[in-house]
Amino acid sequence: MAHGLIKSLRGTAFINGSWVDAHDGSTFEVTNPADETVIAEVANCGQEETKLAISAAVEALPAWSALPAKQKSTILRRWFELVTSNIDELAELLTLEQGKPIAEAKAEIAYGASYIEWFAEETKRIYGDTIPAPGPDKRIITLKQAVGVVACITPWNFPNAMLTRKIAPALAAGCTVVCKPANETPLSALILGEYALKAGIPAGVINILCGKTSEIGETLTASKDVRKLTFTGSTKVGKKLAADCAKTMKRTTMELGGNAPFLIFADADIDAAVSGLMASKFRNSGQTCVCANRILVEDGIYEQFASALKAATQKLIIGNGLDSNTSMGPLIHRAASNACRERVDISLREGAQLFWPDEIPADTSDNFAHPVILTNVTSRMAISREEIFGPIAPLTRFEGEDEAIRLANDTDAGLAAYLYTKDPSKMMRVTESLQYGIVGINEGIISNEMAPFGGMKESGNGREGSKYGLDDYLEIKYVCIGGLA
Ligand code: SIN
Repeated sequence: MAHGLIKSLRGTAFINGSWVDAHDGSTFEVTNPADETVIAEVANCGQEETKLAISAAVEALPAWSALPAKQKSTILRRWFELVTSNIDELAELLTLEQGKPIAEAKAEIAYGASYIEWFAEETKRIYGDTIPAPGPDKRIITLKQAVGVVACITPWNFPNAMLTRKIAPALAAGCTVVCKPANETPLSALILGEYALKAGIPAGVINILCGKTSEIGETLTASKDVRKLTFTGSTKVGKKLAADCAKTMKRTTMELGGNAPFLIFADADIDAAVSGLMASKFRNSGQTCVCANRILVEDGIYEQFASALKAATQKLIIGNGLDSNTSMGPLIHRAASNACRERVDISLREGAQLFWPDEIPADTSDNFAHPVILTNVTSRMAISREEIFGPIAPLTRFEGEDEAIRLANDTDAGLAAYLYTKDPSKMMRVTESLQYGIVGINEGIISNEMAPFGGMKESGNGREGSKYGLDDYLEIKYVCIGGLA
């Protein structure tokens, strides 16, 4: 069924409400990570098409930002309904190009749509202030106004939800957007354009194009017409984009890499901790920036926890995401599965022990990576310093609360952290000491549209979702009215 959707997209870019080819007719291939077959050819856009998209967004801005909130809300709501009523097709398309199990793909479409629904509601709640004035002849008010044209650059791990999490608040604030989704997964992004058109979102308000990544990125960051850039991806690329945006003083929202500690204290409910860890670690084959990256287990329960985790991990069924039995799909490409094998090899050379499986399967001819549990991992090993982005669970031992906090904060990242304990005082003490934007207490799945998603330190800035999610797309204009009687 999703193949029909691929055809209906005509493999093009979505600019100014139309489907267009690259000016030179060039295309790039999109492959299915489960079997590496080519599933589509997509317009290979560059500078020329990006400039067209920016012009379309500039032109559409005045009318869209002036549209009454209630009308914006109705249109966004229609978009939400179209996405949710086509969830099966969209999920199939997502699995085809991204690889995740179909149940996870459906959950992603629902998750992505929840941001559209949330911001369809929030657009009606963009309030200014009246502020006490310093003299009797004055009044002070604030207006909240759209930042302007926004560039949205999104990754392949959540090709639907990371885009809606940016487009929905931008449109709710009255901004227009030029989106550059990852080249690995353009179809789930482009199809959102099709439903946006059907929902009545005017031409030019949303523009989506893929292709020559650096050329598109450089055109977006250099443009004075683009007033904000929002990016989800690696810290390395985020730093480069932020530096480029500084040249025109663009506002930025940066959702960058994580290195999430997952703390399990000796008094924790071990079954709950294992199921929370399974959800956090192996969701999307370990390819999320909030995945448990360093599993820190208190000394007294280390062996018991490792065995319970092994029993749960052995039940994972690895395969093509379109097979409904599959609980873990392939990684996005060969480089990712090779990197996992290499990470395990390096860890073993550094002194970690292979706890499960007994031997790493030798085959390196596809994009699948076997889930791995490593024990005897220390905080100095490379695997503890880097974002893994794959299904490897490294277990490190700690003794007591102080060491747990010290190890947890011993990283430049600061996105998500997790802790399992039954002691309410410990929950609060540890949470308040963690240098992270998101903390899951006795919970492994922390993402939803009602909560502020975002990081501290080198994990970026800004918050997406929640009542704070509009702030990044709004300017505050202070108005002083004088000469009043
Ligand atoms: C991400 O990995 O970038 C986002 C994960 C999420 O929204 O839960």
